[in-house]
Amino acid sequence: MPTTFYIKTYGCQMNERDSEALACLLEMHGYVETHEESTADVLIFNTCSVRDQAERKVIGKVGIMKKLKRERPALVIGVIGCMAQRLGEELLKELPHLDFVAGTDQLQNIPAILDECIAKKTRKCAIEMGPGVFRELDGHRPGRLIAEVSVMRGCDQFCTYCVVPYCRGREKSRPISAIVDEVKMLADTGTKEILLLGQNITAYGVSEARAQGIYTPEFSAFADLLEALQEVDGIERIRFTSPHVRFMNARFVEAVASLPKVCKSFHVPVQSGSDRILKLMHRNYTAAEYLDRISAIKAKVPQATFSTDIIVGFCSETQEEFEMTHQVMREVGYDMAYIFRYSQREGTMASKTLPDDIPEEVKHERNQILLAELNSHVAAANAALVGATMPVLVEGPSARGPKRWYGRTDTNKMLLFDHTEDIHIGDIRNFTITRATENALYGK
Ligand code: SAH
Ligand code: SF4
Ligand code: F3S
Repeated sequence: MPTTFYIKTYGCQMNERDSEALACLLEMHGYVETHEESTADVLIFNTCSVRDQAERKVIGKVGIMKKLKRERPALVIGVIGCMAQRLGEELLKELPHLDFVAGTDQLQNIPAILDECIAKKTRKCAIEMGPGVFRELDGHRPGRLIAEVSVMRGCDQFCTYCVVPYCRGREKSRPISAIVDEVKMLADTGTKEILLLGQNITAYGVSEARAQGIYTPEFSAFADLLEALQEVDGIERIRFTSPHVRFMNARFVEAVASLPKVCKSFHVPVQSGSDRILKLMHRNYTAAEYLDRISAIKAKVPQATFSTDIIVGFCSETQEEFEMTHQVMREVGYDMAYIFRYSQREGTMASKTLPDDIPEEVKHERNQILLAELNSHVAAANAALVGATMPVLVEGPSARGPKRWYGRTDTNKMLLFDHTEDIHIGDIRNFTITRATENALYGK
């Protein structure tokens, strides 16, 4: 009987992508994936450290697995990803039924770690970071209409609130040729849309260019990458996340505006609308600079839509400063936003130098105000689309029944429609919008 594994993923799209690449790697080593958590021989938790709540969820979940381990002592349980990197041995101490911990730069070693845990019944902690080389892990589940592609790892930005630079290490970019090869392979197996991933994706290639002494403010290897991917036959749509304002120069704006396959919806995290808070966060831009970059895109692409990440209740944020964030939201008119309450993270610069002094109720209240702003804007923006016609990439049956299918517009809005025989998964078809809610568009 082959050894089966089950991977449970927490956190961001990078983790989703890492889990997919790991699953392919384990299958190459003879392990077989199962979707049955309760019967798997190997349970792997790919974890996130970004907020305290994310970590507590994992500790709770892995804690419950103690019972399973007691019933089946041969079961192997591992924690990988950002929490593994951040906590290492501490996790093995806290969770005695845990067999291994493997950090974010250890993906390619997990088959060997597993073999060892199974054969020798030893416990293992592997959290060394690589010597700056991006190890290729390009396995994909075949036949995905929309595929994620990691173009870089790590983050050098060190925003004062954020654990990611500690969990993912320094920025490392893959060569354009390796990414193009991966995307061609995806196109050959039916992929139509790619989502490029990097924590600070507009800094793609920057650390390498700096090392070679060729970095200038006009530099954008990310624009070069988009241009190369535009040429891959079979790929119809290119999305990416997340850009950082600091590297969104004219070359970048020109590329995203002019390349037809680049979707005209952009996720541009703002975090705060107050310059004092942005400075405390070490974001390296002012609210005016942020809005200037948004305007530069809007000037070239009037139909562009935007989404963002916001933190409310960061250390010492006053009501007026919070209002400035609210004002930026009104000015940009986001179609989507992830709004977070500040969560102090051990080891970050903010945790060492700035007190977490905004009461939970105030954070909660600020969060609710921005959510209401977002919902009312989205409802109005969607309603204004009724009567318009737009291309949609057809993804298949929705959760609302086999006849009700869905797809996404270029601007990343979900569109629901009644399926007819002549519409197939992967088609890009024009739909006229007949009705809209804040969650979805309906069309025919
Ligand atoms: N690299 C991306 C985002 C990575 S983390 C970027 O810089 O835009 C995703 C989001 O989580 C961040 O944009 C931020 O809004 C939020 N976040 C990160 N650390 C946080 C913390 N300590 N408390 C609350 N939210 C946080
Ligand atoms: Fe975290 Fe800032 Fe890097 Fe984003 S850019 S991952 S928020 S340190
Ligand atoms: Fe979380 Fe790590 Fe992503 S901390 S947000 S899983 S990079």
